[in-house]
Amino acid sequence: MTKTLEIKDLHVAIGGKEILKGVDLTLRQGEIHALMGPNGSGKSTLSYALMGHPSYEVLAGTAELDGENILELEADERAKKGLFLAFQYPTAIPGVTVANFLRHAVTNVRTPDRKEGEDLMPMREFRKELRETMEELGVDGEFARRYLNEGFSGGEKKRAEVLQLAMLRPAFAILDETDSGLDIDAVRLVSEGVNKVAARAGTGVLVITHYQRILNYIKPQFVHILFGGRIVENGGNELVDKLEREGYDWVREKYPDAAVDEDELERRALAESKFAF
Ligand SMILES: Nc1ncnc2c1ncn2[C@@H]1O[C@H](COP(=O)(O)OP(=O)(O)OP(=O)(O)O)[C@@H](O)[C@H]1O
Ligand SMILES: [Mg+2]
Repeated sequence: MTKTLEIKDLHVAIGGKEILKGVDLTLRQGEIHALMGPNGSGKSTLSYALMGHPSYEVLAGTAELDGENILELEADERAKKGLFLAFQYPTAIPGVTVANFLRHAVTNVRTPDRKEGEDLMPMREFRKELRETMEELGVDGEFARRYLNEGFSGGEKKRAEVLQLAMLRPAFAILDETDSGLDIDAVRLVSEGVNKVAARAGTGVLVITHYQRILNYIKPQFVHILFGGRIVENGGNELVDKLEREGYDWVREKYPDAAVDEDELERRALAESKFAF
């Protein structure tokens, strides 16, 4: 059965400040959507809020996966319901190998009723599946023995995420700037991986990106523009072309109220990055 993820009037705050101001977005399994928007418009905020990151406070709205509001569930419950997020900035887990991490994640997602401490997926079965998936995605066998994300290059981090995606076969996947920092060949490779996995598992995909490049490979049927904390435009590939050619000035002019909020968000984003460097 095809599942639906329906986000309605979602308002989210971080640090007491409202970032998302009423987001509406519906994804169905098997569909590919692209979410674009300037720096600081709230794209990552949307993905973190959907995954249940504790710093993101949901002020109003719902996100229903097949009729159930996932915003009321714990993060691990959301994953078990079939939601997957590939982070914009994945964290390293020293001491935990890619294989070990995947075995835990796969077991938890496939046997949602498993209690902590109960058996993991049998090693032999897991290894076989991991090996086949790595072969299919063209990932070197050595990769599984490394510590997750520790010392990974930008490209390796993204490949680790596609590997997770392939092993977890989620109903919905949010890929937050999976293309950032990748060379052309790596973008193609990662995209091909996503396409394969999406086709096989019927995953509904939300690709968050700034650039047309990745969308030449992962072809979205639906394109949305997030601006000032809400989705102001819904369309198809023509929106990607327009943004590539003209930037966001026309969006700013067309949605003056959202532009006021967007300017504030961008100022905050800039101030924050000053602290970060
Ligand atoms: N921990 C935080 N504390 C305060 N403000 C935050 C925090 N995290 C994010 N923000 C603010 O939330 C706003 C939205 O950030 P978000 O990361 O969602 O943007 P984005 O659209 O993903 O941008 P980018 O394209 O640069 O990745 C920004 O103004 C940012 O400064
Ligand atoms: Mg972001």
